[in-house]
Amino acid sequence: SNIILITALFLLICSPQLFAIFAFATCGGYSGGLRLSVDCVNKTESNLSIDIAFAYPFRLHQVTFEVPTCEGKERQKLALIGDSSSSAEFFVTVAVFAFLYSLAATVVYIFFQNKYRENNRGPLIDFIVTVVFSFLWLVGSSAWAKGLSDVKVATDPKEVLLLMSACKQPSNKCMAVHSPVMSSLNTSVVSIFHLCFTVHIFVCQSK
Ligand SMILES: *[C@@H]1O[C@H](CO)[C@@H](O)[C@H](O)[C@H]1NC(C)=O
Ligand SMILES: *[C@@H]1O[C@H](CO)[C@@H](O)[C@H](O)[C@H]1NC(C)=O
Repeated sequence: SNIILITALFLLICSPQLFAIFAFATCGGYSGGLRLSVDCVNKTESNLSIDIAFAYPFRLHQVTFEVPTCEGKERQKLALIGDSSSSAEFFVTVAVFAFLYSLAATVVYIFFQNKYRENNRGPLIDFIVTVVFSFLWLVGSSAWAKGLSDVKVATDPKEVLLLMSACKQPSNKCMAVHSPVMSSLNTSVVSIFHLCFTVHIFVCQSK
């Protein structure tokens, strides 16, 4: 019937599960790193591959590392700046629950159609839950967009080099060897997911 067709289309085109998994895989499963080099005037004090690794949930202030001071054997202890864990965790949590909900809703659409249509309660509940999820998703994704831009700044090798005392001496050569790969954290997926929720609402109303 119509609802099965629409559900099938919905799953094919939009599959919120897919996007929720994607959100989890990209944000929740993220780990990345950057590499710097500090080439001191006195070469024996240099470190040409300082690796700094970080991962979800992006409590960057807990990511510590040691760099040469270029003044004897002494090292400078540093940490990255910031903490984006609350927005990252909220984003992933909403994605996981949206995934579980849409999975359950799909099962109900397909196997319990009569119950779903009874008194129109199914569509109403579905509509309300979907609106709530849409709202949470909007809040979560905009919070995470802010969190992500903080992460990008805090893990930019140029910014990290500014923290090092050795790099304030022009005679020491400080360089970024590589930057963290951020493409998989792109939030463009967010707007697509949101579109899918809108379609979900439309499906709920159209019956
Ligand atoms: C350079 O820094 C890394 C950490 O990023 C450390 O593991 C390594 O031992 C350091 N190398 C030297 C020569 O100090
Ligand atoms: C270079 O550093 C090493 C180890 O810190 C030190 O023993 C040596 O005297 C330094 N050389 C110069 C020219 O400063």
